[in-house]
Amino acid sequence: MDQGMLQQALTHGRRYVRYGKPAGYIPELASKNPSKLGIAVCDMKGNMSAVGDCEDKFTMQSISKVIALILALEQNGFDNVFCKVGLEPTGDAFNSTVRLDHLTDNKPFNPMINAGAIAVTSTIRGATLEERKKVCIEYARRLTGNPELDVDYEVFLSETETGFKNRAIIYLMRSNGIIEGNCEEHLELYFLLCSMACSCRDLAVFAATLANNGVSPITGEQLIQPRTVKLVRSLMVTCGMYDYSGEFAATVGLPSKSGVGGGIISCAIGQYGIATYGPSLDDKGNSIGGLKMLEYLSDSMDLNMF
Ligand code: DON
Repeated sequence: MDQGMLQQALTHGRRYVRYGKPAGYIPELASKNPSKLGIAVCDMKGNMSAVGDCEDKFTMQSISKVIALILALEQNGFDNVFCKVGLEPTGDAFNSTVRLDHLTDNKPFNPMINAGAIAVTSTIRGATLEERKKVCIEYARRLTGNPELDVDYEVFLSETETGFKNRAIIYLMRSNGIIEGNCEEHLELYFLLCSMACSCRDLAVFAATLANNGVSPITGEQLIQPRTVKLVRSLMVTCGMYDYSGEFAATVGLPSKSGVGGGIISCAIGQYGIATYGPSLDDKGNSIGGLKMLEYLSDSMDLNMF
């Protein structure tokens, strides 16, 4: 993509970062510089354009829910995952606990909310917890094309020490049979996935792999089955941007997933993988500068899939 176009998107996004603030509920995230902003775009041939703070490292947070879902589906098949989690949007805020009443008898609504992602993560296989962790990190490395991608262990510890809501959610799901096995191990894996550190460039490659029907634009390898990619992109449209997913579909129109670390991935199907970073979040938990840059690019380049 034209570097000048990205620069214009960045200039547009910068006007808005002062209207938000970094996520406050995890101490390690609260200390991030809110004026940081970057964007990277990877096309289907692996050509990368990037501007702004595109090399900065940040944690994937909820963007990792997409990786967990892909891995769970590819390891277990659709039926063994969707017996534990639904496919419906909630309209709930990013930091809402969970609708506990719905968990008493039912599955969590979808894999993009914490309860759903925890249920999905519980199905990721491996002989030991260490092996499951290794499988997740290695898959994330292949999806991002970055063999050095790793976990930010300070954020991981911070999450582990403060994740009381997630602990409540998993034990409730354990009591109604959605979760099987060792809850503490599943939670550890969930926090590890959230704490994987990446840059916009890494995530642009991942988004491009999704936009390219599962084929890595870097290696040409089919990393995700096309059937899985379609399902995952559909959930990104309906549930990927928390309780802003409807308005985002209407204004930007790209399958996307946001994380409270400040990242957003977006797929212009068959054209580009886009990743933005800006830790200043709006009140819905989405990167405010990231949203504005995506709006700008979608409008200027007519990327809206609808
Ligand atoms: O579960 C958490 O608290 C976070 N690590 C998830 C991050 C996120 O981006 C938004 N979540 N609900």
